[in-house]
Amino acid sequence: MQFPLTEEQRLIQETARAFADNEIAPVADKHNREGTFPAALVKRMGELGFLGMLVPETYGGSAIGNFGLVLALEEVNRACASTGVTMSVQNSLVCAPIVHWADESLKRKYLPKLASGEFLGAYALSEPGSGSDAAGLVTSAVKDGDSYVLNGTKNFITTGAEADVVIAMVRTDPAHKTRGITAFLVERGWKGFTVGRKEDKMGLRSSSTVQLVFEEMRVPAANILGELGFGFKIAMHTLDGGRIGIAAQAVGIAKACLDASIKYAEEREAFDQQIGKFQAMQWKLADMATRLEAARLLVYNAARLKDAGQPHGKEAAMAKLFASETSNYAAREAVQIHGGAGYLEDFPVERYFRDARITEIYEGTSEIQRIVIARHLLTNLR
Ligand code: CAA
Repeated sequence: MQFPLTEEQRLIQETARAFADNEIAPVADKHNREGTFPAALVKRMGELGFLGMLVPETYGGSAIGNFGLVLALEEVNRACASTGVTMSVQNSLVCAPIVHWADESLKRKYLPKLASGEFLGAYALSEPGSGSDAAGLVTSAVKDGDSYVLNGTKNFITTGAEADVVIAMVRTDPAHKTRGITAFLVERGWKGFTVGRKEDKMGLRSSSTVQLVFEEMRVPAANILGELGFGFKIAMHTLDGGRIGIAAQAVGIAKACLDASIKYAEEREAFDQQIGKFQAMQWKLADMATRLEAARLLVYNAARLKDAGQPHGKEAAMAKLFASETSNYAAREAVQIHGGAGYLEDFPVERYFRDARITEIYEGTSEIQRIVIARHLLTNLR
């Protein structure tokens, strides 16, 4: 796609592309097979400024904004979606809400370390009993002097095994469902904080997904983001941004599927010719490329609206919905183009197929995205 980029945006894209091709791609399969967290790559992302792209320079960030972030995320995810989700969560679900909602002392304390990669972060909303119905969470916080005492279990926490800090949505008022939730910034080293079960997943095998358990964990009241009872709005506002990141991830996976499919269609021969000469293959490639460009434009649109400070919840949901369905479509077609070879670990499309699946589920399932979009359309329903 020929999309007009500024010099700065082109530089970000080229830097991310070189990093993806030269540093991530050579080790992505090994990390995936062994299920190891790519710590060295994450450290490099900190050095490149990729972990603080939404953080102002005064707090050590690169302040590049959402459009630059999605350009970089597409490239990183093209090479490795596990590395990509670590980057997306750090920027959109951890740094962004601290920039937006934390007071000055919390910003100064945490943002420079998060932007440099010295600290990794996680976002803890889901629980064993609440996923799509996010406000059904029951992890509790009870006030005790200048602190709150937290008890409960958080589920499906991306980067949870490595995270130094966690933004945790916790119930402070059982009498109110959505308005009884507060966002706390908690540290891994605090007494009562335990990393629980590590999930064995279909895809994203080199990104950790764990339970986090809080047992009588004392958190200073000063570590509340925003105000008491404002946590659900913070969670939703934050996810509006996070969904743009996951949409960019899905675009990156779809691009990887298309690239691998073109290469295979030009190399592989059947019936005495390259399989790319068959219309059956050409139509698949044409449809993959067309949907990919449409998805990318939705992602760019949502990122630009967010950068402009305009409402973007509907557009983020549309981008996430369409891009994630596109990446699953592209991954399915890529495996089909590869035939039996696509079903083997020897070819990367097997990993893309497994990694694409989660993009339709986390940070809000496709069903939730449709609900969010529909609620923006049906403004006169009571
Ligand atoms: N921004 C700000 N405020 C918002 C908002 C938004 N985008 N969306 C809703 N709100 C506000 C509403 O205005 C309302 O405020 P009032 O109390 O003042 O009226 C309040 O929040 C409650 O809103 P709803 O009545 O719409 O809430 P709901 O219970 O019906 O839930 C939902 C809406 C869209 C279904 C929501 O629960 C949802 O998004 N669910 C999906 C959860 C999700 O995406 N989880 C992902 C987990 S994180 C993850 O996956 C990370 C990872 O691993 C990488």
